[in-house]
Amino acid sequence: MNEKKLLYIETFGCQMNDRDSEIMRQLLATAYETTDVISSADAIIVNTCSIRDKAEQKAYSLLGALRKKKKENPGLIIAATGCVAQQEGEKMLSRMPHVDLVVGPRNIYQLPELFRRAEQQQKGIVATDQAKSFMIPPFLPSLQQGQPHKRFVTIMQGCNNFCTYCIVPFTRGREISRKAEDILSEINHLAAGGVKEVTLLGQNVNSYGNDQPEGNRTSFASLLRRVSEIKGVERLRFTTSNPKDLSEELMQCFTDLKKLCPHFHLPVQSGSNAILKSMNRRYTIELYLEKVEKLRSYYPQLALTTDIIVGFPGESRADFQATMDLIEKVRYHAAFSFKYSSRPPAKSCQMAETVSREEKEERLAELQERLSSITLERNREYIGQRLELMVEGESKAADGQWSGRSGTNHIVNFQSPDVLAPGNLVQVIIREACLHSLRGELL
Ligand code: 5AD
Ligand code: SF4
Repeated sequence: MNEKKLLYIETFGCQMNDRDSEIMRQLLATAYETTDVISSADAIIVNTCSIRDKAEQKAYSLLGALRKKKKENPGLIIAATGCVAQQEGEKMLSRMPHVDLVVGPRNIYQLPELFRRAEQQQKGIVATDQAKSFMIPPFLPSLQQGQPHKRFVTIMQGCNNFCTYCIVPFTRGREISRKAEDILSEINHLAAGGVKEVTLLGQNVNSYGNDQPEGNRTSFASLLRRVSEIKGVERLRFTTSNPKDLSEELMQCFTDLKKLCPHFHLPVQSGSNAILKSMNRRYTIELYLEKVEKLRSYYPQLALTTDIIVGFPGESRADFQATMDLIEKVRYHAAFSFKYSSRPPAKSCQMAETVSREEKEERLAELQERLSSITLERNREYIGQRLELMVEGESKAADGQWSGRSGTNHIVNFQSPDVLAPGNLVQVIIREACLHSLRGELL
């Protein structure tokens, strides 16, 4: 019998990368089965992220460490995929000559052929072309991978926004939406296999369909409505959105669609209009706040989360203070915050860095301290409330402890005498609130 070879995949970065790793695993599944043990692998894929310098360094340091492995085992196939691979292309090979394959996010569908070439000892293959005619192929995911009850579904690739700090338009190319029919058949297939929660993924889901021919467009809101009609799907989430494109048609979905989880990730990036302008975000803080207020009028209990960058070129103390003021106004349920990192060829690289490393660190610490206390205050608001949870699994903390996720995207731990299957829905009353989780009592 032909034994399968072993494939190890290390994934950095966002959920788009997680989903791409799943696709790669499946594309190679006839010849390879995946392993968690890197030392036993016949092939290694490093799926890289370049959003900030630190992410890129992590990918390079793992790739660098593989040099020795390749020496010991010349038959080992090493592939670098994802955003750093796209951006670096040939350059990656000169820095890391032991890498066999450099594959961009749009080229992963060629992976079986590329692997065949690498197996035939072809060296240094680079596949990073971003043809304009590229279409995301219709793709049915295998049901044996990942958490069985919830899955990501990519609905679009790339981004047209060109925020000045951001590398994504360069690594993932211009926006391309998948056909609604392909997305729906993928989700139908998942639901038929027992998947209960899907998260629709795209860099800017609000502009879904804008690249489709006029007259034959499905808006993101109407896509959501169609997905929510699929039997078996009990929860629907999406990420991520640019506030400038957030339409009232989408807000209306939070009132109308019972399956749509009451959580909205709405990256603000800065509280200062001058910085937002320099970031090319194309909204003002007044417009942002107006949209938040409107969104909450459609669904008052909506949990709102965000991304914030500190230390963007030109950010004065007053600009930073405007961000601190903003978080008091919105009172986010949770937030991710980052120090600005210059990412060539993104446009902000040409702007002089005016905030020192120490100052960036101080601002980030000040921001994160306040964000954390707001999150804790927000979490305490749930005490005494009833929440529906989708069971994630047994918690490692103690016997009989289970973990579930609320529609608002909170992790809730609770005690259950019964064994619960991931994907089950249970009702709890919240009794206690910590920073990263809530504690509930089963009803
Ligand atoms: N520097 C710091 N943070 C960045 N992000 C994107 N690009 C950069 C950068 N150059 C952050 C943004 C984005 C999140 C995914 O990463 O806040 O929303
Ligand atoms: Fe990182 Fe952005 Fe690429 Fe995701 S799309 S892997 S966040 S650079």
